[in-house]
Amino acid sequence: MNIAVAPYRKAAPSGAADSQKTSPTNPLHLRLEGVGKTYVSGQRRVEALKDINLDIYQGEIFGIIGRSGAGKSSLIRTLNRLEDVTTGKVLINDVDIQSLDTNGLVKLRRRIGMIFQHFNLLSSATVFENLALPLKAAGIRDKQRIRQRAQELLRLVGLEGKEDVYPSRLSGGQKQRVGIARALMLDPEILLCDEATSALDPETTQSILSLIKEINKTLKLTVVLITHEMSVISQICDRVAVLEDGALAELGPVWRVFGRPEHEATQALLAPLKPKISDDIAQAISATPADNTSRAIVKFFFDGTAATYLPLGILSQRLGGDLRLLQSGIGRLQGHPQGELLVSLPYQQHELAQRLETINDLVSTVEVLGYAVPANA
Ligand SMILES: Nc1ncnc2c1ncn2[C@@H]1O[C@H](COP(=O)(O)OP(=O)(O)OP(=O)(O)O)[C@@H](O)[C@H]1O
Ligand SMILES: [Mg+2]
Repeated sequence: MNIAVAPYRKAAPSGAADSQKTSPTNPLHLRLEGVGKTYVSGQRRVEALKDINLDIYQGEIFGIIGRSGAGKSSLIRTLNRLEDVTTGKVLINDVDIQSLDTNGLVKLRRRIGMIFQHFNLLSSATVFENLALPLKAAGIRDKQRIRQRAQELLRLVGLEGKEDVYPSRLSGGQKQRVGIARALMLDPEILLCDEATSALDPETTQSILSLIKEINKTLKLTVVLITHEMSVISQICDRVAVLEDGALAELGPVWRVFGRPEHEATQALLAPLKPKISDDIAQAISATPADNTSRAIVKFFFDGTAATYLPLGILSQRLGGDLRLLQSGIGRLQGHPQGELLVSLPYQQHELAQRLETINDLVSTVEVLGYAVPANA
C-alpha cells in the first residue's frame, strides 16, 4: 500500500454493536410508536415530528438534543399530552395515553412533573403558595399535609425556610429549585425538563444538574431532559436521542453518540466540544512533505470502542518508536476513555500507511493532517 500523503483517514467499524450491549435493563417506562405531530394554523402546516419510535426505561436520564426547531419541545410535550400526537401512540407503562378520558388525563399529569427554562412561577404568590398549587389543583385541601410536603421538598432542594419569600427575591438557581420542588409535589414517577438550565450560569447549572441527578437516584424518577448544552448531556444523561427536522437522527448511550457521532446533525452539535488544533501547529502543517526529513502530523481519535484504555508504549512501538506528542485531550465518558491525540512521526513514503494500519485495534480513527519540518513538529 502506498498512501503516504494527506489526507489519510481511517475509521474502525461503527460502535453500533456496543450500544446494544449497554441498552438499559430496567423495565420499559415510556414508548413512542410512530409518533407524528403536525401543527396546522390556517394554510400553514408544520410537520414537527415524523414517525418517532423510541423506548425510555425506568430510572434512566434520557437526553434529547437537536437544532432549534428540530421538534424537541413538541416531543417532550406529547409525553404528558400538553400536545396530542397527530399519528402514532405514546404508551406509559403500556397504557396508550391518547385513550385516557379527562379523569385519566388528570391522573396521568399528576404522575409527570415538568420544569421549564423560565421556571414558570407565579410572581404574585410566595414560594409556599407556588408549591401548594399542584396539590390544591389535585383537590387536596389538608393544609397541614400541604405544608408538610412543601417543607420536605424545600429541604430536598436546599431551600429550607424560604416558604414565605416571593420569587422576585430569589436567584435564577433558587427559582429553578422551587420549580423542581413544585414538579415533585405530587410525587411523580417521571420528570420532564425542557431547557431547565438554559437560563442559568455555569456554576448554578452544575448545582441544578446535581440536584436532578440526586432526585433521579433517590426518588427513582425517570427523567427526560431537553437541552442545547452538550455538556449537560455528557454529565448526567444515560442515553441521548438526536432529533433533526422532526425525525430521529441518532440514538444511543451518551458515550457512543458523543464518542462517535454518526449523523451530520450530531456532528454539527458536538463540533464546539472538539479540541481545536493550536494555531502554531496548524500553521506549521503543509499538505505535502517538504523532503525526506519531514514528519507526518497524525490525529488519533480514541472513543473506548476499540480498546478500553490506550497503551501508549505499544502505540509508539508499532509506529516505529519515534513519536512526538504535540497536543492531547482525553477524558472519560460513562467509563469510556475518549479524546484526541495529535502526534508527529517520521514521514516515510512507503511505510506511513502500513504503520498506521497496525494500530487499528487501539484507536477509533486515524487522520493524517499533513506534514511539517522536524523543527516545528
Ligand atoms: N404551537 C405551534 N403551532 C405551530 N407550529 C409550531 C407550534 N409549536 C412548534 N411549532 C413548530 O414546530 C417545529 C418544532 O418546534 P419545537 O418547539 O418542537 O422545536 P424545538 O426543537 O423545541 O426548538 P427550540 O430548540 O428552538 O426550542 C418548529 O418549526 C416550530 O415552529
Ligand atoms: Mg424547545
